[in-house]
Amino acid sequence: MPGDGVGPEIMREAIGVLDAVAQKYGHKFEYRYAEVGACAIDKYGDPYPAVTDLVCQTSDAVLFGAIGDPKYDDPSMKTRPEQGLLRMRKSMGLYANIRPVEPYPSLYGVSPLKEDRIAGTDFVIIRELTGGLYFGEPRGLSEDGQTAYDMCRYTVEEIRRIADVAFRYAMKRRKKLTLVDKANVLVTSRLWRSTVTEMQAESYPQVALDYMYVDNAAMRLAMSPASFDVVLTENMFGDILSDLGGAIGGSIGMLPSASEGSEHCLFEPIHGSYPQAKGKGIANPIAQVLSVAMMLDDAFDLTEEAKAVRDACKASVENKFSTPDLMPEGGKSTSEVGNYIKQYILNH
Ligand code: IPM
Ligand code: MG
Repeated sequence: MPGDGVGPEIMREAIGVLDAVAQKYGHKFEYRYAEVGACAIDKYGDPYPAVTDLVCQTSDAVLFGAIGDPKYDDPSMKTRPEQGLLRMRKSMGLYANIRPVEPYPSLYGVSPLKEDRIAGTDFVIIRELTGGLYFGEPRGLSEDGQTAYDMCRYTVEEIRRIADVAFRYAMKRRKKLTLVDKANVLVTSRLWRSTVTEMQAESYPQVALDYMYVDNAAMRLAMSPASFDVVLTENMFGDILSDLGGAIGGSIGMLPSASEGSEHCLFEPIHGSYPQAKGKGIANPIAQVLSVAMMLDDAFDLTEEAKAVRDACKASVENKFSTPDLMPEGGKSTSEVGNYIKQYILNH
């Protein structure tokens, strides 16, 4: 699902990369296309129409671009592109959003952080994706329009299933899990703390668990990002902190993500539709291409192929074959970067 804005441009490159993988390793991928977001509103009057849902529900994996169009930005509009993304996540049961932040050393100089702070940064944000403020009921606006309310609600079951994902990631990595919450203020956060603490004692004693208030976590991510390994957090905090993660590496155009549930999975860049760049051929395709790598790994168990895609992306950056977000002078176009990555895969 290419979606809106620069989505179709970066998706074209990502599919080209998949084709290169298919050619090189002798696979065949079957593609079906569907609309979500503003393009679906334009076509069906619905940001997540039933035809799209059917395609998602019956595919082995969903590769998604971006959502959003300034013409639907008026907050008073009843039908909004973002609703499509949220309904898609809910309908497919994608409760776990996995957002790795591992900036390339060759890009440390592009980061707004000093090089000695960013050096060695390699963490993953595990964001709960189908609960909390994004979905809680009741929500609404009072009749007189003077009061608005959203509900933050979490059940123990919702916390346990996402925490389990985070613990398993920690076990495969450096065995350090940071639960980010606001337990000094929010009741939901206190339920997260007690639930996650209990799970650690019961099932994951090897994982070092620590806790951090979200405001402090924002500061620590900017001051010492390399001190994090696995960050577990609720939906809204994860949304905010993962953009910060994007900034750390110098460009949000580099970060892929996976959204997984018990039956379905979806892969998408963490950046948005970047409407200012639409049609200009300047959008960085790497976040979308790295989402393909996550898909090859997680959905298809094609580890070697996933590594080939990652190596090709890294090579493009190291050889200064990058879009203008990384190289304001002499930056390459979206398709030039895509072609470099495809050729690299075919030739290595
Ligand atoms: C993200 C995005 C979405 C979110 C928006 C587009 C609804 O910011 O995937 O991080 O808030 O989840
Ligand atoms: Mg976001």
